[in-house]
Amino acid sequence: MLEIKYDEKQQLFMLSNGSISYILGIEKNRYLRHAYFGKYIKSYNGSNAPLFYDRGFCSNPIESDRTFSLDTLLAEYPDFNQGDFRNPAYIIQTKDGKRVSRFYYSGFSIIDGKEKLAGLPSVYTKNTDEAKTLRIVLKDTIMQASIYLYYTILAKYDVVCRHAEIVNQGEADIYIDRLMSFSLDFAGCDYDVMTLSGAHLNEKNINRRALCSDSIVMESIRGTSSPQATPFVALMEKDANEDRGNVWAANFIYSGDFQASVQVGQYKTTRMQIGMNSTTFGWHLSSGKKFVSPESVLVYSDKGLNGMSQIFHGLYRHQLCRGKYKEALRPVLLNSWEAYQFDVDEAKCLNLARQAKELGIELFVLDDGWFKNRCADTQGLGDWLEDREKFPHGLKSLAEKLNNEGIAFGIWFEPEMVSAGSELYRNHPDWIIRSQNYEPILSRYQCVLDLSNPQVCQYIIDRLSDILHSVNVSYVKWDMNRHLTDLGSAYLDDKQQKELSHRYVLGLYYIMETLTQNFPNVLFESCSSGGGRYDAGMLHYMPQTWASDNTDAVCRLKIQYGTSMLFPPITMGSHVSIVPNHQVGRITSLNMRFAVAMAGNLGYELDLNKLDEAEKAEIKRQISWYKNIREITQKGTFYRMESPFERNTVSWCFVSEDETKIVCCYYQILAEPIYTNPVLKLKGLKENALYRLNGQDKIFSGSELMYAGLTVPKIEGDFYSEIYILQRI
Ligand code: GLA
Repeated sequence: MLEIKYDEKQQLFMLSNGSISYILGIEKNRYLRHAYFGKYIKSYNGSNAPLFYDRGFCSNPIESDRTFSLDTLLAEYPDFNQGDFRNPAYIIQTKDGKRVSRFYYSGFSIIDGKEKLAGLPSVYTKNTDEAKTLRIVLKDTIMQASIYLYYTILAKYDVVCRHAEIVNQGEADIYIDRLMSFSLDFAGCDYDVMTLSGAHLNEKNINRRALCSDSIVMESIRGTSSPQATPFVALMEKDANEDRGNVWAANFIYSGDFQASVQVGQYKTTRMQIGMNSTTFGWHLSSGKKFVSPESVLVYSDKGLNGMSQIFHGLYRHQLCRGKYKEALRPVLLNSWEAYQFDVDEAKCLNLARQAKELGIELFVLDDGWFKNRCADTQGLGDWLEDREKFPHGLKSLAEKLNNEGIAFGIWFEPEMVSAGSELYRNHPDWIIRSQNYEPILSRYQCVLDLSNPQVCQYIIDRLSDILHSVNVSYVKWDMNRHLTDLGSAYLDDKQQKELSHRYVLGLYYIMETLTQNFPNVLFESCSSGGGRYDAGMLHYMPQTWASDNTDAVCRLKIQYGTSMLFPPITMGSHVSIVPNHQVGRITSLNMRFAVAMAGNLGYELDLNKLDEAEKAEIKRQISWYKNIREITQKGTFYRMESPFERNTVSWCFVSEDETKIVCCYYQILAEPIYTNPVLKLKGLKENALYRLNGQDKIFSGSELMYAGLTVPKIEGDFYSEIYILQRI
């Protein structure tokens, strides 16, 4: 029941899919007013219309009407400099340096389906009956420019996708100072706000706090979405929890700098926005040109955070990720990094891969260290030439040998970077991001290539294509290990320097689009020192992300739990590594490490030569067991049950697509002094269906398992895990 209706009498647009409604109106024939976003409303007759009356310090854009002020309105795409003193959605500067505009409503159209955003990742539809799009036009007749606002409502997911476009129809240049992808106002401010923050090795921490009369801002000016901040914000009613209550969430489909904010206005309105970060974004728009903002996804759930996450998961799996691996099961891999770091060679790879094959591993990934001059992170990036000392027979031959033995071959690149000693750096000093006035600041001894320059993008495409054409590569790990400093480009002219951050991201998207289209059989996994660029933009090109360099099972519980707020487990790379753990020194059992890693896409990242026979046998068992259930964990519906941010016990479960099989994981972090008869209350079962537990004879109803729960054994020792399998009968 997908529809977009225009009610001419009330001057209202109503978007609905039978489950949610989004309503906006035209006020005073000029301004856009937000009316409603939430659970489906059958008909709307202005029941929550605003009361206008004369208030202090409120400017009146219509001279004759002292009761009307933009500062009190619930707006759709608020202006700057017209008397709404809350955060504007856009700021445009005219040639005379002034930042004053008058964009007024001037028309609309309704489009079947959803258009692609040129050069940018976006939610897509296959058929036009999967979505409807409302396109609103705002015009400034003096500036001679138009803003187009796009609202797409989807048939299958409780989502509205929004973005904005600006077209300069005048003679003179204009300058975009700020452009949010969306702005959304709520009446009242009695909400909690949830954000995801973090750091390298500590990604996607959950923060929930009450909104006061101020602003909460989550942002990045690092050139990437970053491990520090996720381009996401959720507004929650106070009583909303994992399973119940109203949640409105927004996620930005973008991999660069952003700003997400929630702001309370003087009359206790709440304004939520996400867009590019004005600190590092600005854009010259010359006559006749158009600028397209990245897209934001707005989710409404009345089933709390699990409901919200399941909407994001479904949408991203089916209508954001693309390519063969959108549906294909993900292989179990062994990565060389934690085993050998830079000290890799042909003999070591063959030895490791052959043992891996014996254990059931399907893909061997040669991480960093395989190319010329790469014995440490101080050098080597940029030329992408094979190191013939380490690999005397070349990578082609290595891949062939592995393939002949039945194991696929994968390889690591860090394409956006260059080390100072490389040929690339010597030949093209003007290809790096820097200001010509200062020595560039290094990070991990490397500089960032200027992807605003099409020649640089072509160089990266050519270098990688050479290898991907000549070597039988099944998997690429695409890394990015530093943030952007010294924002300056030798390619862009003086006026365009503030466009660099966004042009960098556009260049990256162009490279990834070209390579992923040209090599459709390769599984691409993105990485940025772990989960540093784990965002929806990257997932459009690369359906898998290395969630964190931190492989400690206990830390991973939080990282994976936080990541699951937005991203489905099938997108999450997750490996079993050696103990004591490289990052935190903790010792956990192989069982626990496996039980955590199998909740994402399982891999191993350790030197198999250091394991004894019993450990190898255990890994072999783990992999063979995992292969029987991975369809459920990779493609099933994910439910969070107990949170590592709140408790010593953590649990989650996966329900298969056909709802007949359940994999339920339970973890206890530290041993408890007393046993309190804990029960695990399952989620996602059918109340009246019967389930057999772990192949035993005992049978339980779904309602019993969900409401009475399952007794958890008495546990001794730290870092305990248990996996339950339920089969519906
Ligand atoms: C980053 C990645 C690691 C590894 C190293 C190699 O830190 O996150 O997994 O690939 O680079 O230098």
